[in-house]
Amino acid sequence: MKYIIANYKMHLGTRESAALARGVLRGIRGAEVLPELVLCPSFPALADVRKIIVRSHIALGAQDVATESGGAMTGETSATQLVDVGCQYVIVGHSERRRLLRETDADVHKKILHAHDAGIIPIVCVGETAEQRAAGQAEAVVRAQVVAAFDKVTQPRRSPILVAYEPVWAIGSGTPATPADAVAMHRVIHQAVTDTLRLTGEAIVVLYGGSVDGTNAHQFLREREIGGVLVGGASIKIHEFSRILEAAVEVLRAQS
Ligand code: PGA
Repeated sequence: MKYIIANYKMHLGTRESAALARGVLRGIRGAEVLPELVLCPSFPALADVRKIIVRSHIALGAQDVATESGGAMTGETSATQLVDVGCQYVIVGHSERRRLLRETDADVHKKILHAHDAGIIPIVCVGETAEQRAAGQAEAVVRAQVVAAFDKVTQPRRSPILVAYEPVWAIGSGTPATPADAVAMHRVIHQAVTDTLRLTGEAIVVLYGGSVDGTNAHQFLREREIGGVLVGGASIKIHEFSRILEAAVEVLRAQS
């Protein structure tokens, strides 16, 4: 199975998000094989996008969740509230939140626990900065993020553990990691999750994110270790996103 996750970030209004979701739905009509497809619009657009994709193969995801399960936290949204609006997934620990909003490993850890409690699947983002990579620290940094995120977490029944490797320098830069570097880091992440959660293989899915587009998606998706892609910029261009979906379908066909 391959996952394609669209992160609309703060780019689109409700109407634009809904129109895009309609476009994606049209694009997959009649397809025999499909990847697991998750659309993550901004909070205000969740309900409208849900109406469009409900009863389809497409799942709904949010871009963040609160560190607490409820209470006086103005402006925050809890995991149960996300479930109420129809979310099955939530992105957690995106590097933009870590960098711009000072989100810590401890916050990421709490968000994972709340997501699990509410029955929603966290997509946990990890990745090193350019400076950390240049200093030869990439693997150690990513491993530490994984361990901190999943320390004492138990895998919920029937849900996979989803981790997205998103090198900070590759996000929105037009310069993705090479598939070989991504695969190498995916092995590190797989091992770190296995060690931390004491899990066995198939329950762990490691995605790649960072400047994935219609041209390079196939190179990532065809790698066995890469369980899918988390797409930002290219997910809000229907033409690019359709090409990414086509690449996934081609890989799934070749593998079946
Ligand atoms: P990008 O973003 O595809 O625009 O590089 C990916 C992400 O931030 O998840």
